[in-house]
Amino acid sequence: MHDRAIEIAKIIKNSEKVHIITHIDADGITAGSIAYKTCERLYKEVSIEFVKQLDENVFEQLINENYELVWFTDLGSNISIDYPEINKIITDHHECPENSDKNFHLNPHLFGFDGGFEISGAGTTYLVSKAVDKKNIDLSPLAIIGACGDLQDRRYGKLIGINRDILRDGEKIGIINSKIDIRYFGRETRSIIKLLQYANDPIIPGVTGREQSCISFLQEIGIRIQDGDNYRRWIDLNKSERSIIVSNIAQLLLMKGFGHKNVKRILGEVYILNNEEEGTEVHEAKEFATLLNSTARYGKCDVGLQVCLGDRLKFFDEARSLLLGHRANLVEGLQFVREEGINKRKYLQFFHAGTGVRDTIVGIITNMLLNSEEVSSDIPVVGFADKGDGEIKVSARGTQELVERGLNLSHALKKAARVFNGVGGGHSIAAGATIPKGKEEEFLEILESEIKSQLS
Ligand code: C5P
Ligand code: C5P
Ligand code: ZN
Repeated sequence: MHDRAIEIAKIIKNSEKVHIITHIDADGITAGSIAYKTCERLYKEVSIEFVKQLDENVFEQLINENYELVWFTDLGSNISIDYPEINKIITDHHECPENSDKNFHLNPHLFGFDGGFEISGAGTTYLVSKAVDKKNIDLSPLAIIGACGDLQDRRYGKLIGINRDILRDGEKIGIINSKIDIRYFGRETRSIIKLLQYANDPIIPGVTGREQSCISFLQEIGIRIQDGDNYRRWIDLNKSERSIIVSNIAQLLLMKGFGHKNVKRILGEVYILNNEEEGTEVHEAKEFATLLNSTARYGKCDVGLQVCLGDRLKFFDEARSLLLGHRANLVEGLQFVREEGINKRKYLQFFHAGTGVRDTIVGIITNMLLNSEEVSSDIPVVGFADKGDGEIKVSARGTQELVERGLNLSHALKKAARVFNGVGGGHSIAAGATIPKGKEEEFLEILESEIKSQLS
């Protein structure tokens, strides 16, 4: 991968103008920012564009606009046509066809690594950036945020593989460090009540999802909820208070039969950005990633990009207000899906959100549902959302256990979508697709039989 990164670095250095195309999620925004900064530092003329997905329209437009060099980050690996008219480089981590091993293409799957958890789109982009100039290792925190945004720490409760090497780069120069702490989202910015209420990996039986139960749980174990008028956050607690909470969650899980495997997941690595202010959304990688997800997924790409490039004033403030909307949308979206109900079939379970959930966040909702009490964890979850243009967005999520039994959602969605001239792909554990509206039922039939054959 290092040699390929050097080859790609040469292509960049030999170009004057670079146009970056990236994805609208946290990994895409961080990947795009790394590419942007890399070009800027080389005094290249650089532009950037965010897309929901790569389809023919994007390529047609790129051909028309005739750029000297197009740099695809966090997407581009899974294209069926090569488009030789476009002079391009690709730094991505999605599953890709074997014949896509080209000198301009950096993807872990081409080198025997798994892009689902060993390196993200931002990570592969970072490798090229570092090959351009060693000084770019100051961009390593962005690659860690990207990996966390793609939940690459989920499998082992920490980042492993190439992600770990990237982490070491940042640690070496003191800008990031890891520590073992509670893995629940919002350690720094949310009250402990909210932290528990939205705890979903693992869920806390009888507590998750119920605000009043969270308050009683904390009161019963003697944890003060407020300091004066302020609700206490995880970072406001002392060491012994934190361990009381952790051991009580563990006890609850064991009592309700959730097993040691789940107990182990309460704690894990968190990644702290040392140069950022404690208690803000940008001090910890997972919170940073969520802040970014609140921007480009709502068409505010610029906001996320500027925050990655270092703005902590105007754009940072805007991102924070977008975050409030994003959180509300996730809560409402989950509520909506729960009311509509989850339909169980033999080899998959699904929901159709219609226009009730934005197509850009249906993947996050599907993920959140996967860990919740109302879905079974022994079959994948599939979510549909209406894109409003005669097309349906599909998001599918599985578990590590299912992947170990042969599940590959990327293959399954790609294959099923193709039947309807749709596009699909992703990772074995998480994949997406776009299909024509009205074909959902037929699509499910094909998808289910594909999943069945993968699992048997
Ligand atoms: O397009 P991209 O690869 O950046 O998106 C990855 C998606 O896959 C994220 O939405 C993430 O939630 C999901 N994922 C997951 N579990 C993993 C890896 C990825 O749910 N282990
Ligand atoms: O959109 P969603 O979060 O469900 O996507 C899950 C994964 O599948 C992401 O990594 C995304 O980039 C990928 N995907 C893809 N092709 C599509 C849709 C999604 O590769 N058409
Ligand atoms: Zn990614």
